[in-house]
Amino acid sequence: MLHKGVVRSVILSAMLAASIATAAADETSLHLTEGPGLTQVQASCSMCHSLDYILMNSPFQDKAAWEKTVNKMVKVMGAPLTADDITVVVAYLDAHYGKGAPAAP
Ligand code: HEC
Repeated sequence: MLHKGVVRSVILSAMLAASIATAAADETSLHLTEGPGLTQVQASCSMCHSLDYILMNSPFQDKAAWEKTVNKMVKVMGAPLTADDITVVVAYLDAHYGKGAPAAP
């Protein structure tokens, strides 16, 4: 009979393998718009999932919605952003990927 801990570590390694594959694909396929805050976004938002998540949500998120998303990533998911990082990242997301911002190339 399988022990629960074994099952969990199998699931975790599968998730890890998937996220490594995604991160590798990102480097060649996804370039976010240049601008202040991009470095923080790349550093803080690509460790758990692809930066595609930002593009997917871009059409309908205004600044308040980005604030909510980033806070959720920090408080619920455990993203390691300082209060300063959050301000910079939200400003970046609103400027380049906010509802009504110029479409990403
Ligand atoms: C600690 C891991 C982690 C980090 C770091 C992280 N995220 Fe997430 N993110 C998740 C998970 C897990 C989901 C899927 C949650 C769900 O489906 O409810 C998610 C989902 C999302 C979504 C989809 C919409 C939603 O609300 O579920 C967006 C957009 C997003 N993240 C943006 C970001 C941004 C921007 C950053 C950087 C500030 C970031 N994420 C950093 C774990 C993380």
